[in-house]
Formats: sequence, C-alpha cells, structure tokens
Amino acid sequence: MNPVKVGLLGLGTVGGGTLNVLTRNADEIARRAGRGIQITHAAAKQYDPSQLIGLESVEVTDDAFSVVENPELEIIIELIGGYTPARELVLKAIENGKHVVTANKALIAMHGNEIFEAAQQKGVMVAFEAAVAGGIPIIKAVREGLAANHIEWIAGIINGTGNFILSEMRDKGREFADVLKEAQALGYAEADPTFDVEGIDAAHKLTILGSIAFGIPLQFEKTYTEGITKIEPQDVEYADQFGYRIKHLGITRKTETGIEMRVHPTMIPRRRLIANVDGVMNAVLVKGDAVGPTLYYGAGAGSKPTASAVVADVVDVVRMLTTDPENRVPHLAFQPGKLVDLAILPIEEVETTFYLRMQVIDRPGVVAKIASILAESHISIEAIQQKEPNEGDNTVPLVMLTQKVIEKQLNKAIAEIEQLETVFGQVMRIRVERLDG
Ligand code: HSE
Repeated sequence: MNPVKVGLLGLGTVGGGTLNVLTRNADEIARRAGRGIQITHAAAKQYDPSQLIGLESVEVTDDAFSVVENPELEIIIELIGGYTPARELVLKAIENGKHVVTANKALIAMHGNEIFEAAQQKGVMVAFEAAVAGGIPIIKAVREGLAANHIEWIAGIINGTGNFILSEMRDKGREFADVLKEAQALGYAEADPTFDVEGIDAAHKLTILGSIAFGIPLQFEKTYTEGITKIEPQDVEYADQFGYRIKHLGITRKTETGIEMRVHPTMIPRRRLIANVDGVMNAVLVKGDAVGPTLYYGAGAGSKPTASAVVADVVDVVRMLTTDPENRVPHLAFQPGKLVDLAILPIEEVETTFYLRMQVIDRPGVVAKIASILAESHISIEAIQQKEPNEGDNTVPLVMLTQKVIEKQLNKAIAEIEQLETVFGQVMRIRVERLDG
C-alpha cells in the first residue's frame, strides 16, 4: 500500500521534532500504523535545516495555504500555533476533506467547537493529543481509557515552564526572570511567555480537559485564570512549614451546582506524588468514580516529547482512515449530540480552603480582631502562626490556613481585614487543595 502523504505546517521546535521522529522511527511507525507515513510537503517561514532529518524528501514552501490546498495530501499537521492563521488553515484543510492533527491548545480551546462541527460535517478527524500536557497521552486516557467512569475531578500541572520556574525558585533560590530565560532557550516557553506565567496556556489546556471529562462544550472564556507572578519566596517557605508545596494547578471538578474550571497557584500536601513533580515535567491526576485516582506523568513540553504525541495522533488517524465517521472516537469524548450545557461556576462560588498571609502590627489585640472578622464571616481557622518580626520595624507576618469557605465570603472578610489600620498592604491568599481520593 502507498504511504499516506502528510503536509506539515511549521518546522519549529515541535514541527522539527515531528519530522525527525517520523523519519527516524519510520519503519516502527509503519509497522504500527499498517502503512508508511511520509511528510511530503511542509510550510515554514524560517527553519534550521541542520536540525532536521529527512528534509531532502520534503518540498518546503513559505505558503501554508498552498499545502492545505494540495490534493495529494490526506493529513495536515498544524504546528504553527496561535489563533490566526492557524484557524483559517485548519478550517480550509477540513473543507478540503483532509484530516488534521494539531498541538495547538489555544486554537482548540478558543475555536474547537467550530472546528469539530466543521470536521463532523465533512467526516474528517481532528486529533489534538499534543495540545495538553505534551508527551503524556492524557486525552487518550480520559477519552478512551476512563470511558467507564463518571469523572469527578481533574487536577494537573499542565504548564512545564511555570513548573520549571517554581521548582528552580524553590530549590535553588533562582530569580524568576533568569529561569524564564532558560525555559525560553530550551524551547519550553510559549512565543509570548506571559501565556505561561499568567496561566493562559494552562487555562487553554484545562478548558480541553474539562470538556472531555464532563462532555461540555469548550468554554475558555469562563475558565478562571491566575498566574504565578505574585508568589513570594516567603510563601514557598511558610507553605513548606505547614507541610505543603505550592504548585500551579489547573483544576476542574463537577459539583452539584456546576463545573469548576480554575487555574491558579495551589498549596497541596507535600506527601502527594503530584506535589513532587518538578522541573518541566507535567502530571495530571484524574479521579474517576469507578477507578479512583489515577496519575499520569511525563514531559509536558519540548521538541521530542510533543512530537511523540503528534505522531501518535497521525498513527491513530491512519489506522482510522477506513472507518465510518460515526465509529470513531468523538472529538470531545461524548457523542456530538450528547454534550450537556452544565454551568461553569464563577470563581466567587467555588468552595476551598485558603492560606492567608498578612503583614500586621505586633501588638496585643491585633490577631484577636482579625480572628473576630473571620468568625463573623463564619470562616474557621485551621492553623495560625505569627512569624518572626521584620528587622527594624514592629510588624510581623501572620499566616493561617482556613477551613472550607465559599470564595465570595472570604473576599468580603479580606476586604474588611485590609481596612484595619493594623494590617499593611494586601492580604496574600493561596487556595489549598488536599487532592485526596
Ligand atoms: N509552554 C508550554 C509549557 C509548552 O511550558 O508547558 C507546552 O504546551
């Protein structure tokens, strides 16, 4: 049988890795797919031929639209990233009857509903394993491996750059900007690194996970997003003293009132496996009602790990080329007509426990006043510690852990506390999750 001809859009970190893996492992991949897979055309504005293998059999152009218009190609791999022209290219490829493989989480999170509908109508596949957690096959695990379960919640470290920065800051006391630069040089960071450090990249990925976990349309705009830039070294230290680690997590959970979708720094018990996932590694913890908690760990970014997921998708598409569209795995795990419109909870309605840190005057009655504001708001304190005074002034950091509270209730209490003349600046808050089964 002739090899399947594939067009590749993008020859950067992931595109280059994909060409290299497909070339290097061609025989093994063909044994798995049942047919050879050949990248015959590629589009790239710039690329480094010295980093690519197999380029001699690829026709390279700088016009990506000419690739999606090429009638010889059955599959298009989109690795340009970003919203545009990726959206137009993918929709054009679908219109031309081509199957699409993409690693573009921004594209799927923002435009996935439109793309999947177009693909459904054309009877073509859109595969996006590499869009979430790089090399970890988490889409396949949730969509297929856990198909027997009601998924209860998912919590994941799904941005390698952010995890790398937090780990290096904690372990080596390195500066934020310095670690970010290294992540960029290693090809982990997004083109716009604020996507990593402000949580947007993780929110894209969480949006996708939430949809395939609960069978709801993609709703990126409703995902609460908070980055890691406000975390201070003292919070890392105090968290440690309470027996916790701070991780930047994406969390989605089904509750009686709706779906939580939130990305933010989170304190988790140090003894949890996921609390010990460091560097650029990702990990996703999925709780199913039948299986219990399951944990998936691996490289969440980088050339070869992401290429591993891209190529696996291409193999899947090749294996499925001859199946009827209705017998394929649905894009969002549930049959297209069976998606449900569950409410996404605003962050103010989410109930969690909190770590609070505030700088207060060191004199009698100050802690009692703060405790009374919390008590009036029905917020129970689980632990409280007054730290050493700052040198040269009479203020001290006061840190505490609360019991579970609905966020809007806490916001009200914090606003009152911040009004006290004995409290300086803003109250730092970090949500705490126990992540037990
Ligand atoms: N910038 C992303 C990360 C790349 O650091 O995880 C993988 O999506």
